[in-house]
Amino acid sequence: MRLLVTGGAGFIGSNFVHQTVRERPDVEVTVLDALTYAGDRASLAPVAEKVTFVEGDVADAELVDRLVADADVVVHFAAESHNDNSLSNPWPFVQTNVIGTYTLLEAVRRHGTRYHHISTDEVYGDLELDDPAKFTAETPYNPSSPYSSTKAASDLLVRAWVRSFGVQATLSNCSNNYGPFQHVEKFIPRQITNVIDGVRPKLYGTGENVRDWIHVEDHNSAVWAIIERGAIGETYLIGADGEENNKAVVELILELSGLPRDAYDHVSDRPGHDMRYAIDSSRLRTELGWEPHFTAFRDGLAATIEWYRANEAWWRPQKDATEAKYAQLGR
Ligand code: NAD
Ligand code: DAU
Repeated sequence: MRLLVTGGAGFIGSNFVHQTVRERPDVEVTVLDALTYAGDRASLAPVAEKVTFVEGDVADAELVDRLVADADVVVHFAAESHNDNSLSNPWPFVQTNVIGTYTLLEAVRRHGTRYHHISTDEVYGDLELDDPAKFTAETPYNPSSPYSSTKAASDLLVRAWVRSFGVQATLSNCSNNYGPFQHVEKFIPRQITNVIDGVRPKLYGTGENVRDWIHVEDHNSAVWAIIERGAIGETYLIGADGEENNKAVVELILELSGLPRDAYDHVSDRPGHDMRYAIDSSRLRTELGWEPHFTAFRDGLAATIEWYRANEAWWRPQKDATEAKYAQLGR
């Protein structure tokens, strides 16, 4: 199989490439990545010899057409992915997430190529803390932020290209990932690296907001299950029953780092901050036989802390610029 992975130098995409090279030696991997602030070739260094890397934009129609013509399957991870950035400057989100997806869809339509679209549970909006409901593929779209609305737009393009043009696509909407190679702007790596730097972790608002954490390896094993066994046109929700509120996550990072559990600060809240996400992944489990392996969040988080301690050379170059952006927001 010749596989084109967009966004393969980012957090989830690079882990996907590592997992693919490790477990599927017969797959030929090409990565297309624009190397924005969020992409880092160092994340692919251990597999550099086994992967073809192309630096370029998913909205570059000529380049995309050429790469798609040589692929059997496209997995589209590339995106602007951070909610806080989308609130400061939404345009790159519209350009990459909407126009980039459109560009890929037109190419896979022309070449009849199998396409898997990576999306987020944030397209469904949020749930109340005391609501017993979880998101399913039937939950109506109700995105809150510029980020999630552009991801929702991209999902709707995929569905329309399946129905109107017969594009061979599947979609997945996953909850919050954690694990190695995640940019230090994101919640868990930001707090881990703050602690390493002797800075108190920062909780937005009350810290009651709930995210449904899944280890990135489990997200990626689900993506492979969908590529291999998913039904064309179908949407699969990916989650591992990992609901935790932000306060509990910060307390656990502090405890696992040998510090008092209350050694954090509250900072101003994110505008429009979604309260709770929760995924019902039963379709993926019953129809495709997928199960997560990293079910003990405490162990997964401890291993992630260890990874950031051992790989300071990877994240250190990003840390000051990231904190300078947050300082401007007062967070
Ligand atoms: P990331 O920000 O870490 O990586 C994004 C990658 O895309 C980077 O390597 C970047 O250089 C590349 N990129 C950005 N714009 C590009 C463009 N125009 N052309 C080519 N490459 C471009 O993001 P991530 O957290 O790894 O997320 C990957 C995908 O998974 C996204 O589609 C995101 O919406 C989705 N997702 C993320 C999570 C999560 O918890 N992080 C959860 C569910 C879904
Ligand atoms: O649900 C899937 C989504 O998860 C993905 O689609 C996004 O790409 C990914 O970034 C993530 O979005 P969130 O906004 O949930 O992730 P983030 O890491 O930015 O924040 C997680 C929670 O932590 C959120 O409630 C905000 C809060 N937070 C974040 C930061 C950076 C803090 O309390 N303090 C912080 O310093």
